[in-house]
Amino acid sequence: MREDIEKVYQEALKGIENASSLDQLSKLRIRYLGRKGVLTGLLRSISSLPPEERPEMGRVANQAKKSLEKAFQTALERLEKEASLRTEAIDVTLPGRPIALGRLHPITQITREVCEIFLRLGFDIVEGPEVETDFYNFEALNMPKDHPARDMQATFYISENTLLRTHTSPIQVRTMERESPPVCIIAPGKVYRVDSDISHTPMFHQVEGLMVDRNVCFRDLKWVLTTFVHQIFDEATSLRFRPSFFPFTEPSVEVDIRCVICRGDGCRVCSHTGWLEILGAGMVDPAVFEKVGYDPDTYTGFAFGMGIERIAMLKYGIEDIRKFYENDILFLNQF
Ligand code: PHE
Repeated sequence: MREDIEKVYQEALKGIENASSLDQLSKLRIRYLGRKGVLTGLLRSISSLPPEERPEMGRVANQAKKSLEKAFQTALERLEKEASLRTEAIDVTLPGRPIALGRLHPITQITREVCEIFLRLGFDIVEGPEVETDFYNFEALNMPKDHPARDMQATFYISENTLLRTHTSPIQVRTMERESPPVCIIAPGKVYRVDSDISHTPMFHQVEGLMVDRNVCFRDLKWVLTTFVHQIFDEATSLRFRPSFFPFTEPSVEVDIRCVICRGDGCRVCSHTGWLEILGAGMVDPAVFEKVGYDPDTYTGFAFGMGIERIAMLKYGIEDIRKFYENDILFLNQF
C-alpha cells in the first residue's frame, strides 16, 4: 500500500508540475483528489487494512494528499499569472494608433496666404493690441470725438478712452510713431464691432497695409493691390477703384473685384452687380502724418485695409460668415 501511495503521489506531482493550462490542472485535481479520485480511493481503502497498520498508512496518505494540495495551489498561481500576462501582452506587430492631427482654421490659412504674398512684395509683418485707446483707434486717424465717421464703426467701449479696436488702422499710427520712413508693413489681426448677421460677426479679422516713403503715389497703391488680387484669386480677376471716403486717407477708394462666382454676369453673391467690394484704401492723409511727426511735405504713403473673412468667403464660396465661428467640425474639416 505504501508503494501504491508513493506511486500515485509521484505520478500526480509530475502531472501537476507539467500542467500547461488551468483546464488540464482542474482535470488532474478531479482525477487524484476528487470524490472518486485515485488518492481518495486509497485513503478510503485504509479502513480495510489490519487495525495496527491503519494509523501509519493514514499518516502517509494524508501527507501525500496535503503535498498534492499544495502543489495544485502553486501550479494554479503559476498558470493564472501566465494567463494574465498573455492577455496584457503587447502585440508589437499591430500597426500604431494614429494621432489625430488638427488643422489650421480657414481664417488662419487665409491670413497666412495674404501675409506670404505681401512678404514677397517686401512688406514686414507687425502686430498691435486688440484693446486700444480712443487716441490710436480714432483720434490719431483724424477722427475726433464727434466725427460722424465714428458711427460707421459701432464700437465696444471698455471705458471712455479704452475700447476694442474696430479696425487694424491703429497699428499704422503705432508703427509710424516708432519708426521713421521708409515704412512698409502689413498688420493682420482681430477687430471688433457691435454687429451680427449673415455677413457680420462681432469679432472678425483684417489685414492693414501701409507704405510710406518719398514719392509713394497712387500708382504704387494700384500696382500693389492689383498684384495682390491676382495672386490671392487669379490673374483673370479684374479690379475697380471707386472713389470713397475715410478720414485718414485722401483721396480714398474702395476696391471691387469682378465677381469670382459669376465672373461678372451677375449673381446672388454680387447682388447682380458683377462686382464685389473687398477693401478700403487711399493715400495717407497729411493730418495723420502730422499726428505722428512725419513731414507731410517730404513723405507720402498709401494705406489699405481688408477683411480676411470676406476674402475667405469669396475664395471658398461660403455664404454665411457665422460658419467660421460655429466650431462645426464638418465645416472646418473641408479646409
Ligand atoms: N480701416 C478701414 C476700415 O476698417 C479700412 C481702411 C484701411 C481704409 C486703410 C483706408 C486705409 O473700414
